[in-house]
Amino acid sequence: MPLDAKYETGVVWQDFQHKQLIDLFKKIREARAQKKDKNLFRYTLAFLAMYVNHHFSLEEEYMEKYQYPAKDAHHREHQGFVKEIKAFRDENTNYSEKASEDLLNSMGEWILTHILEDDQKLGQFVLEKEQLHLRV
Ligand SMILES: [Fe+2]
Ligand SMILES: [Fe+2]
Repeated sequence: MPLDAKYETGVVWQDFQHKQLIDLFKKIREARAQKKDKNLFRYTLAFLAMYVNHHFSLEEEYMEKYQYPAKDAHHREHQGFVKEIKAFRDENTNYSEKASEDLLNSMGEWILTHILEDDQKLGQFVLEKEQLHLRV
């Protein structure tokens, strides 16, 4: 399934990576509906912790490269979420119905909101910078 247009930034690597994250939550949501989310729970958390580091680093690289004016605030958002994931993993080493629901609701929602509120602005900025480079 393609990335929902509402979450697009227009930056290829950013959209690709956001899709990976959104698909991860889709998968666990579907598994929950069939009461099969237990096996996916640890995998989802481990994948999330790994992938988010990779993804945030790349966004931060671009913020640095183009001297994005809101880079510090955006960076802080990322750091806050990394801390949240770590705390969540420490508190929820094992599956429970509630932990799985919290994972979807708090972690999943954070990512969607962050894309809409922060990443789309960054994406727009990156696109503008890159178009400028192409014209030179
Ligand atoms: Fe971001
Ligand atoms: Fe992002």
